[in-house]
Order: sequence, then structure tokens, then C-alpha cells
Amino acid sequence: MRRLFCFFLILSALAVKAQNPSQPSWLSDAVFYQIYPSSYQDTDGNGIGDIAGIISRLDYIKSIGVNAIWLNPVYVSGWTDGGYDVIDFYRVDKRFGTNSDLVELINQAHERGIKIVMDLVAGHSSDQCEWFLQSKEAPNLRYSDYYIWPSFKPDGGYASLLSKFVATDAPRGPYYIKNFFDTQPALNFGFANPDPTHPWEQAVDAPGPMAMRRELKNIISFWMDKGVDGFRVDMAASLVKNDPDKSATIKLWKDDLMKWFGQEYPEGVLIAEWFNPAQSIEAGFDLDFFCHDGQYNYSSLFFFNNRRRPGAGSAPSGPYFDEAGNGGLKEWYDLYTYQYDAVKGKGYVCMPTGNHDFNRLCTEGRTKPEDLKVAMTFLLTMPGVPFIYYGDEIGLKQNPKAPSTDGSGFRAGCRIPMLWDGTANAGFSTAPIEKIYIPQDPDPNRMTVEKAEADPKSLLNYVRGLLKLRSEHPALGADASWRLVSFLDNPYPMVYERVKDGERCYVVINPSAKEVSVTVAPENNKPQLIGGFYKKCTYKQNRSGAAVISISPVSAAIFKF
Ligand code: GLC
Repeated sequence: MRRLFCFFLILSALAVKAQNPSQPSWLSDAVFYQIYPSSYQDTDGNGIGDIAGIISRLDYIKSIGVNAIWLNPVYVSGWTDGGYDVIDFYRVDKRFGTNSDLVELINQAHERGIKIVMDLVAGHSSDQCEWFLQSKEAPNLRYSDYYIWPSFKPDGGYASLLSKFVATDAPRGPYYIKNFFDTQPALNFGFANPDPTHPWEQAVDAPGPMAMRRELKNIISFWMDKGVDGFRVDMAASLVKNDPDKSATIKLWKDDLMKWFGQEYPEGVLIAEWFNPAQSIEAGFDLDFFCHDGQYNYSSLFFFNNRRRPGAGSAPSGPYFDEAGNGGLKEWYDLYTYQYDAVKGKGYVCMPTGNHDFNRLCTEGRTKPEDLKVAMTFLLTMPGVPFIYYGDEIGLKQNPKAPSTDGSGFRAGCRIPMLWDGTANAGFSTAPIEKIYIPQDPDPNRMTVEKAEADPKSLLNYVRGLLKLRSEHPALGADASWRLVSFLDNPYPMVYERVKDGERCYVVINPSAKEVSVTVAPENNKPQLIGGFYKKCTYKQNRSGAAVISISPVSAAIFKF
């Protein structure tokens, strides 16, 4: 009887914990820190970051208040796409160390209560991968069907895939299908509706694609069994070809890979790079990104002029998070609420502070610590799991002039090495300056971790405070409900409500250089300010009973009712 009682106690505790019981139990309290390993900390003096460097910084990472790390790829790579052209999926690249170094990182991180999530490049390999070298020689070898070899280029009706045909003089040619760059041949997970006149189009359950799935599971198990806590899955939507509505790709994940993963590794996380949570959560992922990359998602908040959504009109003339205060919320709101409503209670829509593929938060007109504090308050108090891109916690600046490195193109500008202290190369590396992975900001007044630590008002210390507040208030967490309280036609300030476990908060955001106010429906009790960054923020009931929220320029505040 007592045992039965305990069993029910545990069951009910679990039910309260995670909103979706199939999610890993730790996910709802997770805060991620994304590290681009070549740029974090070099310990062997070659000018490129390594795993030992990450291990040496774990105490700092923990001090920020994060409890999970996502590492960009660390596998043996041809380095034509920042590590996303994998040569050996089972081995750490020499530039970072060895597999044993990675296991050491996992163990040391776990000792500090930090999870480690790797990148899983599921859709392609390097053209130097042993599988591809064999596949291009002849059919019917061990890895022949891991790739797709069209025997001719069909005319039309095939548009999106035709752009992925790469001409080759390999014996299996004349074409293979790539996923991203030419050096990244697509792995063969089959076609949604194979065309019988195209012999290279295999069904998703044909022997080749099935072997491919087994290999993917093998890779996942290899690293999970070494202790990693899950994966961020690169281009997760790309697996099945000619699948415009993604139904076959969703089915493949959901009915096979996810089912298997959930049984084998119930505490493992799978994060989609899909940029469409409505689809990826349906496919079984725990969370997906909603950011500037791939789709327009939050571009209008941060990078309006740099990538406009076609047909979005010409109304606002700047991003929302800009002191000019000319931005709008509608474009973002429509896209966000569509995704948020689609996956509520099933998975998370995550707005990262940045990532390795687009401009940093600290760029263009948003380089003052005050501007960044306002943006961070928003990003770290929205629903879903927060992701902080390394360096964003100190305001590491975008370098628009960074030369393309390892196939990065313009993306080098956001992959600049971390700035630690006042020693040579800001403590990133002892290599001569010309050997540093990507040139660092030469400004002698550049912000470093050391300076930020010493200043109680620094962005770093603000971020620490915010994450602490978030961890103490269920209403600021991943699962708390969200509702816009202010108005789309009067976007400054933005006020949103978060509610969980009987606690209710309002977050007030004003990136503009003007003092602004908004009149909203009254509440029964008066709220207390519990956090934020402001000269002044008030909540007053006016004569007609409505509530007026006013906030100083470039400010953010959190009220609790
Ligand atoms: C993802 C990665 C990006 C990479 C591409 C191809 O979008 O984030 O860096 O270039 O996939 O793997």
C-alpha cells in the first residue's frame, strides 16, 4: 500500500514538472549556452579554440546561470562549412582534441550540473567522407545507397531539388544531390513520392534509406552512450526529398527515429533546426528555433533592414529593438503567435539571442549595453527555452569586416573569438595575432569578461540577475502562459503577461529613446516591480479605472501582481 502511494506521489510530481510528459524532465528549467568551439578558448596556442579550452571555462559558463551547452559540430570535418561537412561522424576533429577530451568535457560539465548537447548533421556528409568516396565508385557496395545519384536532369516540375543537382565526373555520375554546399552531398533518406521514370528516387522504406536510418541511430547511440544529453539536429527538415509539405519527413521522424529515441533515451533532448515549430514539434522534436535564419520569424524585431519579408509592406522603417523607435510588432506577432499557439503544451518555440549563422544582437544601431539589456530582458522572459549565443552575455560585437573563414562567408562576423581579459588576444589564445581564427575587435576599450565581471552594472551581471529571477519565478519560465497586453498599433512599450502556478507577471519593454506609456485594462491588485533596467516605470490606475503603464527611455521592467 505504501509503495503504491509512493508510486502515485512520484507520478503526480512528474506530471507537475514537465508540461509535455514525453519531454526530458530537465528541459523546462533549461537555459542553453551555444558555443562555436573554434572561437571560444584556445589552449594549444594554434589560434583555434579547443575542447580543453571549453573545459577550462566551465566555471564561468555556470556562473552566467545557464545549465546546458549546445556545441556546434566538433567532428572530423573538411572545414568547408564550419564543421557542417562531416568526414567522420564518430570522431572528434584533431583541431579540438580527441574523443576522450569530449568525454572529459561531458563529465566535468555534468559535475557542475550542466548538460551537453551536440550538433547532429543528419542530412549530409562531407564529400570526403568514406561513405561518399565509396558510394561514388559503384552501386551495390556497403555505402553505395547512402547518397543519391540522378542519371539525368529532368526538365522542370522539380524546381527546388534541381538546384541541388551537382554535376560530377565520378563513376556513379553524372550528378549527385547536395544538401547545402557542393561539398555536402545529401544523405539518402528516400523520396516522398518516387517517380518511376527517375530510377534514383528510392522510397523512404527502400533498403538504402533504411540502412541510412540505422546509421543515424548508430551515431546518436554512439554519443548518447558516452554521456551527451541530446542533439541539435541540423537541417532537420531536409531528410526526405521532394516533400514540399514535409509530411514524409515528419512521419519519418515521428514514427521511427523519435519513437526509438524516446524509448532508448527518455532523458535525451532533440532540438530541431527547422524554423517551423508547427511542423517540427509535430515530428516529435522537443523544441525548435524561431529566429532570423531560414525564415523571417523575428527579423523585424532585430534586423529589419537587412532582410525584409517579401510583401511585408513598407510601414515601419526600422527594427523594433532600436532607439529610433520606428519599428513595429505586427509582423513578428503574427508569425510568433501562429507558432506559439500551434505547439503550446507540446513543445517550445525558442528565440535565441543569436547563433552562428546570422548577425549578432550587438550590431548596427544596437551596440550600447542599455540597448542590449532591453533586448535581453525580452529574450530571457519569453516562453520556451532561452539560448544565449556565446559572447552575447558581454555584448560581443558583430564584425562586419571579418574575412570568410572555414566556408563561413558573411557568417564569420558573428563567429569571432571570445574576449576574455586584458592579455594578448584578449586571453583567447597565445598564438601570434595573425594566426587568430577570426580577427577580434581591435578597439582597446572592447568589453571583456574580466571588465564585465568587475562592473556590477555590466550586461553580464544584468544577464546573471535576469536568469536568477527567471529561475525563482515560475511565471517567467518556459511553460508559463503568454499574452500580449499592449497594442500592435501602438508598439512602444510592449507589455506582455506571463502566468504560471498562480503567479502573474507583466513584462514591459521599451527599446525606444522616448518615454512611453500604454493604457490597459485594470487589475485587482497593484503590482510590485521585481526586476528590469529602468530609470522609472510606473503602474497607475487612472480616474476611469484603467491602468496606465509608463516607462522611461531604453528601459525594461518586470512587474509581479
Ligand atoms: C545549418 C547550420 C549552418 C550550416 C548548414 C548546413 O543551417 O546552422 O551553419 O551551414 O546547416 O549544414
